Amino acid sequence: MYGEAAKGLIEKVLDLKKRKKAVILAHYYQRAEIQDVADDIGDSLYLAQQALKINSDRVVLAGVNFMAETAKILNPGKTVLVPDHNAGCSLADSCEPAELKKFMAKHPGHTVVSYINCSAEIKAMSDLVCTSSNAIKMINSIPSDRPIIFLPDKNLGKYLAQETGRNLVLWDGVCSVHEAFSLDKIIELYQKHPEAKLIAHPESDEKLLKVAHFIGSTKALLEYAKADPSKEYIVATEMGILHQARKALPGKRFIPAPVNEDNTCACSECPYMKMNTLEKVYLCLKNDSPQVEVDKEIRQKALSPLKRMLELSMN
Ligand code: 13P
Ligand code: SF4
Repeated sequence: MYGEAAKGLIEKVLDLKKRKKAVILAHYYQRAEIQDVADDIGDSLYLAQQALKINSDRVVLAGVNFMAETAKILNPGKTVLVPDHNAGCSLADSCEPAELKKFMAKHPGHTVVSYINCSAEIKAMSDLVCTSSNAIKMINSIPSDRPIIFLPDKNLGKYLAQETGRNLVLWDGVCSVHEAFSLDKIIELYQKHPEAKLIAHPESDEKLLKVAHFIGSTKALLEYAKADPSKEYIVATEMGILHQARKALPGKRFIPAPVNEDNTCACSECPYMKMNTLEKVYLCLKNDSPQVEVDKEIRQKALSPLKRMLELSMN
């Protein structure tokens, strides 16, 4: 599958990782070659859980910044390396602390639940954190008479309001990748593949979620495809996930959901996730840089809603 140059770089990364006793954790949206050198691959919740368990002193978090920050908050004694410091997230960028402060002032007395796709500062201002795989559980853990602000993803928020029956006050943020799927094109594709099932991430638009056969986090989408008897799936999430899907289920067909024409790359690639390359993974291991740091006070405040989420996720 890989050419000679890529194979050479893979060898170099694996060798350096061993010599430096480092662990590489990768999100499903990472490039295939990064997933293939990783010790573990997972969704946001799984990566946070693994970050707590690491024995090694050095971890490369191949994902986006909020994932690396989460690992550092949970396990501050470790050196957390990132391939590219600029790997942000449109959701995290949509929610600035000063704006959230104003929003909270407009909605006093609300419990603040933040999706993990936000900065450490925003987590520090939150009562509870959630990921796409435990969000329903987190909302249901809050007493029913308590009003809730949910941020920053309004699509996930609408989905949660519908699933839990709670009236959530939503922040107006979206994931630029999941927002770009074209329902018209998905319907056209479905007409050509009537046996296919549409499986979708809850960051997608509500119109798409309404017609999806299954909705779940990246990990849940993979697990669904493993347990389900169908042979074909239209996959409405970032296309990096197709690497693990095809590896695990070579007999099944996974078709990436099409996006709107005005999307510059005409595919469901996250530009932030794709900033990481295998070369950058090698360089961060070699140079022990860039490292992720989180201010001590922010870290202490952000730790409590994260810990609460991890504790509630175990039950
Ligand atoms: P999960 O991997 O938790 O499903 O989240 C998807 C995502 O958008 C991460 O940036
Ligand atoms: Fe953020 Fe969307 Fe990229 Fe995930 S896919 S990192 S939510 S922009």
